[in-house]
Amino acid sequence: MRYKSQSVAYWYFAVAMVLFGLQIVFGLLSAAKYLGPDPLLYILPFDVTKMIHTNLLVVWVLTGFMGATYWMIPDESRTEIYSVKLAYIQLALWVVMGLTAVIGYLFRYGTGNKLLEQPLPHKIIIVIVMLMFLYNVVMTIRKSGRFTTTEGVLLLGVAGAAVLYLPSLLHFDNYTVAIFYRWWTIHLWVEGVWEMIQGGFLAYLLIRLSGADREVMEKWLYVIVGLVFIAGILGTAHHYYWVGVPTYWLPIGGFFSALEPVALIAMATYAYSAIRRSGMAHPNTLALHWTVGSAVYTLFGAGLLGLAHTWPGVNKWTHGTLITAMHGHAAFYGAYAMIVLAMISYALPAMSPSRREQGTSIGYWSFWLQLAGMFGMTLSFATAGIGQVYLERILGLGYLDAQLKIQVHFLMLIATATLFSIGVILFIIDFFRHAPRFEITTESDDVTRTSPVSPIRA
Ligand code: HEM
Ligand code: HEM
Ligand SMILES: [Fe+2]
Repeated sequence: MRYKSQSVAYWYFAVAMVLFGLQIVFGLLSAAKYLGPDPLLYILPFDVTKMIHTNLLVVWVLTGFMGATYWMIPDESRTEIYSVKLAYIQLALWVVMGLTAVIGYLFRYGTGNKLLEQPLPHKIIIVIVMLMFLYNVVMTIRKSGRFTTTEGVLLLGVAGAAVLYLPSLLHFDNYTVAIFYRWWTIHLWVEGVWEMIQGGFLAYLLIRLSGADREVMEKWLYVIVGLVFIAGILGTAHHYYWVGVPTYWLPIGGFFSALEPVALIAMATYAYSAIRRSGMAHPNTLALHWTVGSAVYTLFGAGLLGLAHTWPGVNKWTHGTLITAMHGHAAFYGAYAMIVLAMISYALPAMSPSRREQGTSIGYWSFWLQLAGMFGMTLSFATAGIGQVYLERILGLGYLDAQLKIQVHFLMLIATATLFSIGVILFIIDFFRHAPRFEITTESDDVTRTSPVSPIRA
């Protein structure tokens, strides 16, 4: 750790870990309900457990983004964070918002707008937190006067995420209008500005882990960002096929969203070639696994499995089925969960010196169990989804009759989700089993090793 204030990242990561664990509990609960019987039917029905599962996902990933940004900006700008106090107040507000939202959901206090169910007071707090965060980051960069392309891309992504949350504050009684604007947030987040956040972290990690040349890496980062925007913005229309808007959105959505994987191919190639060209100059190979894993798994989950159902001729059969859940899991996990876990794995040894920099065997078990488990879950959702589409949409069976016939796939889902959960538990154990010790080290930029100077306890 080169700057004392980077230690705030640890507490963001710790909160993210706890919320990740909770998210998994609600995922398992949701999956169990597919098999039944459901003793919690009237206390915690499926819609509530799923809502808590997906909201916790969004909140922990955003917490991870914030922590990772507070870690990365001092490194890039070579300065302390502008206000550590503000960063802690921001975290406290954020945690209170998240926990009260979840408690509210248990009592059916929510807006019912999928993934954006937060009640208005919570939404306002989210906006305030985002503003505090942006202010702190921008002031840090201003104070230092050093502004790199890598952090510029990250900052644009973070600012874009804040701005695109604003449409979710609007309320429309007309369902078509409501859903039209809902995608301005959700789609433009995950297939637009969040990809810039992922790109920023990816560039930072690859420069440091592989020792790749910063100038080259940043040049290609521009290309990736350009590709994301060319396809991603009009690609929003792949959510407008069957929602009551004019039919001209069908070819627009099909064409532009089919181009979206190009940026993801570029991202995976980017990671692969950085490693190939520069080798592994850094001892933290566990962080390297998560970094390259994120780029490759995004190509699989978002690129390939997104493409699989993005064309209107396919989507008219698969829309809103378990095929969507198949893609949603693999894409979200690869792109956003894995990149946060990569940043944590990179930063952690510097915040707890008793930890081996190469990563522990628990760390590697966690990586492979999560990867295998999530791959199995993706296949379970896929096979269940194919069965569902055939039985329900082609043979015309009722929803519940079709669900009964695909039970075996839910058994497979629970089995593979168990493997995945063990991987997550191991990651959480590995995170907390070394107490943090915030020591300052001097280190020349990027890859080179560090030498302790003056240990400071935070
Ligand atoms: C990292 C990037 C991505 C993430 C995290 C992601 C995640 C998701 C999620 C969670 C949903 C369900 C949303 C909802 O119903 O509320 C969804 C839907 C969808 N995604 Fe993605 N996605 C990504 C990229 C892509 C790409 C690149 C494509 C196309 C090539 C794509 C195609 C689709 C389609 C067509 C749907 C609608 C499914 C339906 O009609 O039910 N996604 N995505
Ligand atoms: C033990 C692990 C997990 C289990 C058992 C699980 C199970 C489930 C179930 C049963 C649903 C509801 C699907 C439906 O609407 O029919 C769901 C939704 C969802 N889960 Fe998970 N999940 C797990 C972990 C994760 C992880 C790690 C992520 C992302 C990183 C994730 C992202 C999502 C998303 C985005 C949705 C909404 C998908 C949609 O609406 O189509 N889940 N999950
Ligand atoms: Fe989309």
